[in-house]
Amino acid sequence: MRSLKAVLMVGALILSAGSGWAADVKIGFVVKQAEEPWFQDEWKFAEQAAKEKGFTLVKIGAEDGEKVQSAIDNLGAQGAQGFIVCVPDVKLGPGIVAKAIANDLKLMTVDDRLVGADDKPLEDVVHMGISATKIGETVGQALAAEIKARGWDMSEVGAIRLSYDQLPTAVDRVEGAISALKAAGFPAANIYDAPQAKTDTEAALNAATTVLNKHANVKHWIAFGLNDEAVLGAVRASESVGITPDNVIGIGIGGAESAINEFKKPAVTGFFGTVIISPKRHGYETAINMYEWIANDKEPPTLTLTSGSLALRGDYETVRKNLGIE
Ligand code: GLA
Repeated sequence: MRSLKAVLMVGALILSAGSGWAADVKIGFVVKQAEEPWFQDEWKFAEQAAKEKGFTLVKIGAEDGEKVQSAIDNLGAQGAQGFIVCVPDVKLGPGIVAKAIANDLKLMTVDDRLVGADDKPLEDVVHMGISATKIGETVGQALAAEIKARGWDMSEVGAIRLSYDQLPTAVDRVEGAISALKAAGFPAANIYDAPQAKTDTEAALNAATTVLNKHANVKHWIAFGLNDEAVLGAVRASESVGITPDNVIGIGIGGAESAINEFKKPAVTGFFGTVIISPKRHGYETAINMYEWIANDKEPPTLTLTSGSLALRGDYETVRKNLGIE
């Protein structure tokens, strides 16, 4: 018994000698839109992982390709061993992979998956994203249910599809919503595309305003898009053209501060709900995975797709708590 214990202890010593010192581990977390609450939350949870494991986290906002490239060089120069990135443009894929290799950095992507020259995902790059189609379907089903609950005639409802079609996860999300709406009997002809120039609220507001002005005779409106910011843009647009909240159902994706602030408003708005996704998994878990990869040579799963839970104004606090993101 005693000798077994000795063997185990020696084994443990060898193991710990083989792994990197936590204090020497430096991990970058690069995001495309640092001002967006979702990305702030990812950083917050990544910090939690850094504290727990004792590594250094370097947070960098990079809103265009050039900034991403210099962020990677910068991380290489300061002796980081790896980074997690949500890129501003997934088409930068091969260039980012090459830069990571040149700087001897391990690479993981989060949220938006890199694509190659053929527009197909770079399947060898470790990625964590949301189950975009399924989450989109949840949005569509919830919209259809609320249309019914309000007793609206579907032929009198217009749908704003806030779109950002250069981003595959955005397409999957809105197409998921559309397939669920169609399955519930929503007329395809009443769905109007509102292309955003960027994935923020202002761009969505501009895109949605054009649709609302063009179809001023429509009685009721629903709105869906890739995130809460997109749907909030449509809701703000509806307000600006004088449509009352009882005639608008917007359901977003995210559940971070943008949605929470809206739910906290004393008066109900057209922002009816959101599918809460997990910044904890996308921030904490990716950072832990990267740490384990660097320090203990434990390679993370190549693809992880996370789920979402529908939350409305009345129950979002409980849903967040249940997801462990309070
Ligand atoms: C994309 C969106 C973000 C957020 C993440 C979640 O990056 O732009 O707003 O929804 O996906 O994975």
